[in-house]
Amino acid sequence: MPRMLSSVGFLLVAGAAMAHNVTILSDAPVNQEITGLLVWVLVFSVLVFGLVAGTLVYTIWKFRAKPGDDGLPPQVHGNDRMEIIWTAIPLLIVMVLFVLTAQTLVKIKRPVAGSVPIEATGWQFWWDFQYPDEGLRTAGELVIPVGQPVEVKITSGDVIHSFWPPSLTGKADAVPGEDNYLRFMATKPGNYYGYCAELCGASHANMRFRILALEREDYNRFIEAYKAYAAPAPASEPAARGQQLFNTQCAACHTVKGTAARGVVGPDLSLFGLRTTLGSGVWANTPENLKRWIQDSAAMKPGSKMPPFKHLADADVEALMTYLYSLKLDGFDFAQLPRY
Ligand code: CUA
Repeated sequence: MPRMLSSVGFLLVAGAAMAHNVTILSDAPVNQEITGLLVWVLVFSVLVFGLVAGTLVYTIWKFRAKPGDDGLPPQVHGNDRMEIIWTAIPLLIVMVLFVLTAQTLVKIKRPVAGSVPIEATGWQFWWDFQYPDEGLRTAGELVIPVGQPVEVKITSGDVIHSFWPPSLTGKADAVPGEDNYLRFMATKPGNYYGYCAELCGASHANMRFRILALEREDYNRFIEAYKAYAAPAPASEPAARGQQLFNTQCAACHTVKGTAARGVVGPDLSLFGLRTTLGSGVWANTPENLKRWIQDSAAMKPGSKMPPFKHLADADVEALMTYLYSLKLDGFDFAQLPRY
C-alpha cells in the first residue's frame, strides 16, 4: 500500500509539474540525461502501480464473500515461488535504476564545452551573481543567453541555501566553503522564476531570483554594454540629490559601477533601473514597493539586513528613487520578457 500511494503521488507531482511548465522533461540538450532518467523512473512507477493496484482489485473481486459463504475461507500460509518472484522483480528494478542513476551522475558532473561560467552566492536573503570572465556582477536577476549552456558555480556566504530555477533545471545546494555546479540551457527567451529551496531563516520564502534569458545577440549586446557601463551623470536636480544621498547613506553596502559607491556586502545596484523585481525577486520593481523598501525593508522582508531609512524626508526618498531608476542601459527592457 505505501508503494502504491507513493506511485500515485509521483504521478500527481509529475502531472502538476508538467502542467506548470516545470522542466522535468526538458528538451534542452544539457538536461537530457536527467530527463532520460526520469522517463525510466516514471515507466517503472506506472508498471508497479498497475501491477499492485490491478492485483489488489482482482483479489478483492475474486475472493469477495458470496451468498451462502459462512465461516472462514481456506487459510493459506507461505508460497515460496511467489515470494521469490516479488523479491526478485523489485530487486531487478532497483538495480537497473541504480546503474542508470550512477551513469547519469557521472555524465552530469562533466563540464559542458562552450558554456558560460557564472558564480552564484547565496546570502540571507538574496543571490549575488558574478560573471568571472567579464568582471560583472548583478543581484537577484541573472542574465543568460538562449541556446548556449551555462555553468553556475553555487556556494553560500553564510548558511545553507539551495539554488532552484524549476523551469530550467533541478536544484543544487549552496553550502559555505563548497562549490556545487548546475549546468543547463534555456531554449527560449524569458523571465524564469527561481527559488531558494533550503530553509535558511526568517525570509527563506522571500529569497527568490529571476533568470533573464536573452537571444544570443541581445545577450552579447548586454554584456558589452554592461562592461562599458558607468552610471550616467544625474540628468536632473532630484537625481543629483539622489546620487549624493546614495553616496552618503547607501554606498557602504552597495555598488554602482562607475561611481564612488563600491560596497559589496549588499546587492549590486549598478543596473537597478533595469531590474524587474526588488527584494530578491519577490516584489515587482514599482515606485510604491521601492519606497516602502527604502523606508523599512524589514517590514516587507523579515530578517532583511538593510537598516530602515525612516528618518529620510519623503522628498529625499523620492530623490533616491529617481537616481536608482536612472541606473540602466539604453535599449533594454526586461519587463517585456515572457514569464515562466
Ligand atoms: Cu536561502 Cu532559503
